[in-house]
Order: sequence, then C-alpha cells, then structure tokens
Amino acid sequence: MWQRYPDASAALIVSPTPYGTCADLEAIVEICHRRGKPLIVDEAWGAHLPFHPDTPTWAMDAGADICVVSVHKMGLGFEQGSIFHLQGSLVDPVRLSQCADVLSTTSANTLIYGAMDGWRRQMVQEGEAMIGKALDLTRRVRRAIGGIPGLHVLEDELVHQEASHDLDILHVLIDVSQLGITGYQATDWLRENCRIDLGTNDHRRVEAVMSVSDDDGTAERLLEGLRALVDAAPSLPRPPAVVVPDEKDLFLETVMLPRDAFFGPVEVIPVEEAPGRIAAEMATPYPPGVPLLLPGERINKAAIDYLRSGVEAGMVLPDPADPTLKTIRVVREEPHKPQK
Ligand SMILES: Cc1ncc(COP(=O)(O)O)c(C=O)c1O
Repeated sequence: MWQRYPDASAALIVSPTPYGTCADLEAIVEICHRRGKPLIVDEAWGAHLPFHPDTPTWAMDAGADICVVSVHKMGLGFEQGSIFHLQGSLVDPVRLSQCADVLSTTSANTLIYGAMDGWRRQMVQEGEAMIGKALDLTRRVRRAIGGIPGLHVLEDELVHQEASHDLDILHVLIDVSQLGITGYQATDWLRENCRIDLGTNDHRRVEAVMSVSDDDGTAERLLEGLRALVDAAPSLPRPPAVVVPDEKDLFLETVMLPRDAFFGPVEVIPVEEAPGRIAAEMATPYPPGVPLLLPGERINKAAIDYLRSGVEAGMVLPDPADPTLKTIRVVREEPHKPQK
C-alpha cells in the first residue's frame, strides 16, 4: 500500500476485526516507521487486550502511534464510550486534540466518563483474573458447540491465513451453512425464540461474543439456544443464494474525492444501471460494518450482485437512502460534449 500511495499521511488498519482476527501489528508498525509515517489502529474490538497476556497484542504494546478503542464493545461501558491512545512523536498531540474537538460534543456525559474510569480501575485490579476466567469458559463453549451436529466453530481457518496473524478466541464464530440456513436467519431465529442476541453475522456464519460478564449459566443458555436452532433449521425457509464476490472485485477504484461525490450533484437510478457509475452514498453490510461502497468509488457489477442478493437473503444495509437497494444515489455526470 505504501508503494501504491507513497504520499499518504498515515496507515489505518482494523485489528481485531469484528470476526476476532488480528493483524501482525509489530510488522506493520515497522514498515510504517521505516517511512517515518504513523500507524493508526482501529482497535474498536480490543478494549480488553491490555489486561491479559493470553489475548492478542495490544496496539500500543506493538508500537502503534494511535489506537481507537470502544470500551462499550469488549470492555464494560456505556455506548459511545470510545477513547484513543497516543504515543511516540509522529503525531502532534495538540493537532490530534484539535481534530477530536471538531467532531466531539461540548456536553460531555459524566456517566460515560465515570463508567469508563470505573472499568479501567477494575481491569487494573482484577482484569487478568476476570479475563482469564472468560477465556477458560470460552474454550469450553467452543468445544461444546463443535460437538453439536451441523455447527462448526472456526478457529484454525482464521489464524495465519491471509492477513490474519492472531485470533481473539472470545469471538466464537460459528458456521451454520450445513444447516441449510444463513447466518442472518440463525441470528433472527435466536433473537425471536430464545432472546439471545448474537454479534456479527453473514451469509453463512454467526458469532457469539463472550465477555467477563459470562458464566456457566449464560454459556448453557447459548448452547441450549444453538441446539434448539439445529432442531428448528429444517423448518426454516431455504434462503436465496448470496453471490459472494471475488476478493479482487471488492477493491473499487476511487475516482473522485468522497466529499465531492457526496456533496455534489447526485441522481437516484435503478440499481441495475449502477455498474460503471460513481457512488454518491455508502453501502455497508451491518454487521460487521465494513462499507462495500463509498462515495467517489466506481461501482462494479460484482458489488451490486453481492449487495442485492445479500439484501434478498436478509443482509441489513443501514446507510443507503434506499435500504432495499432497488435504487441507488450516484454522481450526476454531465454527458460528454462533442469536441469542436
Ligand atoms: C471495527 C470497528 N470500528 C469502529 C466501530 C465503531 O465504534 P464506536 O461504536 O465506538 O463508534 C465499529 C463498530 O461496530 C467497528 O466494528
């Protein structure tokens, strides 16, 4: 990426991903720092990492310059309790603070701050024991789910594959495709029938996120729910197939600045006519929340086929103006004037 974009100011990566896979941060830090550029890590899913030696490496320990963490995800905090850490000399703290000021509220919520500070204190004092217990419980839960016919817990497939260097095992990713249903259906069924809320889900997987708040009781509820899902699966409607794109088709070309595409003249067109046009809005399968289309990107057919077939199968797209994606907002392009 540095060879492709040598003028970029910094590198930004997501680690852990919402699936629990983690990048080789130390190696990436080394590559960035050799060029005198900072590494920013979106560590939204890593609030617990500093507090136990058996979890993947915390971005600050790996030498990253900034990491952004959602305490409300893997820590214990109210929603919106996100923080950033800064170290080293590559990022000016005053400028960073001024940038944060542009985006943040002037009405700080003391409940959020108080809860974050209480959680930090608890983690420093008892975190290692609490997280150690959660890890032991998770290992047992993973084995038990692996023993349920029709379910497969992913682990070996997720480590040392492609960009994945390590795995946070608290993300228990379960492949439900052998049941003939999608992860979307499994998630909806468990919420509706067992009042169990799963995390990330996609066309073939669901994810149960374990935490320091879990115990034998909650683990057993999850296992009971999953057994009931296996029993119910044959009676669920067969889902339409999701057209999953090749990895190469996911890298859409940015042909316009995102702000120009978003704020400039747009038009709404039937989605079938979108390939070849420039997106003027985002389209993000959520969860996990990684945008497939961003304003300014040239839309391709593979992206549209994936999003449309995904929506048919139960994928949630919260951000396009038309969440069914029958229509899409694209940049209005003036027809080419013939040269005189
Ligand atoms: C990788 C990643 N980064 C950032 C966010 C958003 O974080 P926050 O809830 O703190 O705004 C999410 C939320 O799901 C996420 O998965």
